[in-house]
Amino acid sequence: MLNFELYNPTKLIFGKGQIEKLPTLIPAGAKILLAYGGGSIFKNGVHEQARKSLEGYNIVEFGGIEANPHFETLMKAVAIIKEENIDFILAVGGGSVIDGVKFISAAVHFDGNPIDILQKHILIKENAMPFGTILTLPATGSEMNSGSVVTIAATQEKLAFGGSALFPQFSICDPTVIQSLPKRQLQNGVVDAYTHVLEQYLTYVHEGFLQDRIAESILQTLIQIGPNVIEKPTDYALASNFMWSCTMALNGLIQKGVPSDWATHMIGHELTALYGIDHARTLAIIGPNLYKVMFETKKEKLAQYGKRVFNLTGSEEEIAREAIEKTVAFFHSMGMKTALSENAENIEKTADFIVDRFEKRGWKGLGEKQNITLEKVKEIVLASY
Ligand code: NZQ
Ligand code: ZN
Repeated sequence: MLNFELYNPTKLIFGKGQIEKLPTLIPAGAKILLAYGGGSIFKNGVHEQARKSLEGYNIVEFGGIEANPHFETLMKAVAIIKEENIDFILAVGGGSVIDGVKFISAAVHFDGNPIDILQKHILIKENAMPFGTILTLPATGSEMNSGSVVTIAATQEKLAFGGSALFPQFSICDPTVIQSLPKRQLQNGVVDAYTHVLEQYLTYVHEGFLQDRIAESILQTLIQIGPNVIEKPTDYALASNFMWSCTMALNGLIQKGVPSDWATHMIGHELTALYGIDHARTLAIIGPNLYKVMFETKKEKLAQYGKRVFNLTGSEEEIAREAIEKTVAFFHSMGMKTALSENAENIEKTADFIVDRFEKRGWKGLGEKQNITLEKVKEIVLASY
């Protein structure tokens, strides 16, 4: 097992009716920026619950954080925080609102141009404004990790950043909030979390036996509940297991002491930046093709995945190949398309554009063995046609 440090200070408050605990979590007298997205929180009662429990607090609201949050929008919130002397941020929403708040938190006291946080990948280890979250969409794990992804609209760049100062102080995870999610977002949540596990699991055979078993159990739970939860989000057993699986998939635990890949996400982010495709849907397109192109280096782990998660039998090679097909079938059952609906000429241009960007960023070898070269990236994107 590789050496590791585990640090995760986020207090997770999980279950029904937990929003009313807000006053025990935010310092009395704090002036709060309540940040939200396009308005779903007004329709499903989450806004009302939050305001009711925060009666007596001085609150300024900031709405309009879009899916795949924009740097340009978030900088408006930074200005309001400075004008209004805000000292605590409450993110109420999905991954986009939480990620947006992480950027705002980092940018408020940043010494320099905050765009550098994104373009120069500056690690935020201190001076972040404290924030907490009320999660409304299980998917990203952002409620219990210190990473974030923000898009610079002007340049169409979707860039990841983070740092130990960017863990939420607390996250309230009430599984009943998923009842108002459109089916498409429920499907996205299952596939995003599933791919988070695969990014940290589908590498090579190693000695992190416990990490593998935990990863496999999250995958099995998502396979068990995924098809049902998208049909019946009012079922609390399904909703709570869905929400907890998504948090566990990316709160850092299963990544400790083991190699990880993340190339599917890196390529997927480009497809969102270029075409606005939902995050999870880019992963369903890229992931299986990446496993096919990188088959030789991943086949032992693919075989382990096939045996333990899908109970497949046969030769190692057969199991490994069938495991990819099973993954594609699962994604299809979650309403995903696993190919880009583009013509060959456009795909060629897209692949060249992505390769060029990666080259400029110095990303010449992605993946657990840094062997996903620019040529391989091109092959993976072309295979997605
Ligand atoms: O904006 P509102 O009106 O709230 O509507 C949202 C949005 O339209 C809606 N929604 C959220 N909760 C709802 C709801 N609608 C009804 N009822 C509810 N309870 O859902 C839509 C999508 O929301 P969004 O936050 O964009 O989705 P998600 O949670 O999937 O977040 C995606 C973003 O997270 C990033 C992605 O790249 C993308 O930008 N990621 C962040 C990660 C992290 N921080 O660790 C890791 C991930 O891999 C991912 O990259
Ligand atoms: Zn993701």
